[in-house]
Amino acid sequence: MTIDVQQYLVRQEPYYQPQGREVQLYEAAYRNRLPVMVKGPTGCGKSRFIEYMAWKLDRPLITVACNEDMTASDLVGRYLLEADGTRWIDGPLTTAARIGAICYLDEVVEARQDTTVVIHPLTDHRRTLPLDKKGELIVAHPDFQLVISYNPGYQSLMKDLKQSTKQRFAAFDFDYPDADLETAILAREAGIAAELAGRLVKVGLAARNLKGHGLDEGISTRLLVYAAKLINDGVDAADACRMALVRPITDDADIRDTLDNAIDAIFG
Ligand SMILES: Nc1ncnc2c1ncn2[C@@H]1O[C@H](COP(=O)(O)OP(=O)(O)OP(=O)(O)O)[C@@H](O)[C@H]1O
Ligand SMILES: [Mg+2]
Repeated sequence: MTIDVQQYLVRQEPYYQPQGREVQLYEAAYRNRLPVMVKGPTGCGKSRFIEYMAWKLDRPLITVACNEDMTASDLVGRYLLEADGTRWIDGPLTTAARIGAICYLDEVVEARQDTTVVIHPLTDHRRTLPLDKKGELIVAHPDFQLVISYNPGYQSLMKDLKQSTKQRFAAFDFDYPDADLETAILAREAGIAAELAGRLVKVGLAARNLKGHGLDEGISTRLLVYAAKLINDGVDAADACRMALVRPITDDADIRDTLDNAIDAIFG
């Protein structure tokens, strides 16, 4: 069975604005083939960072969105029934281990613990993946690396990762970029002027200050990019902000009022 590695390569340099020394630190982690965990709220740049690093390191990137119904077989592989018998199909984790890709398990806490444990032998000195059903033990390609993302905000204690899983990773703690960097990101991602981007960032900050006071999460950089794109397309700024920034994040009438007023003040 041949695997088309090309399809997993990140061909164009993704735009990534570093927030600190994370690029150099990631390179050091990769040189040592340490598994990496990227923590942070939704829409703050975790996936973009990993895409950028895969491009920079010239490694194929295989991303898996995890969910609670996911089984170990979804990661590792399974036998498929066919007219003339059965055929083994590698799962994405197996493919990544074979070809030496960076395997990015997005929102890994969503997966059940009996699913998560399949990554254990891959993330310690063994660097192996047993395909129990197939009776094969894969030794990971020397370039293989496992990366998981983790949003410490929303999951309950029940859904937290086990210590024996956590303590297999070096971790990056991401957060929304500071105001100047976020302004630059919006200007670049949506092609808007820095002055306008700066105002959107102020709306973002107003919402982030409400976190814990009626909001579970602040407005993400992702949503700010949405608003910036709408405005760049000719949508009225206040309309764009309500639609892209306020309505998605809350149904609470008081919080909506507070944010709508902030938007009028910032764009009025
Ligand atoms: N440092 C950054 N450089 C460039 N773009 C960024 C950066 N941070 C955020 N963005 C913008 O924010 C958007 C969302 O980022 P990304 O998809 O990486 O979020 P995430 O942290 O993976 O969120 P989730 O946890 O929901 O998957 C990107 O598409 C990009 O437009
Ligand atoms: Mg992501």
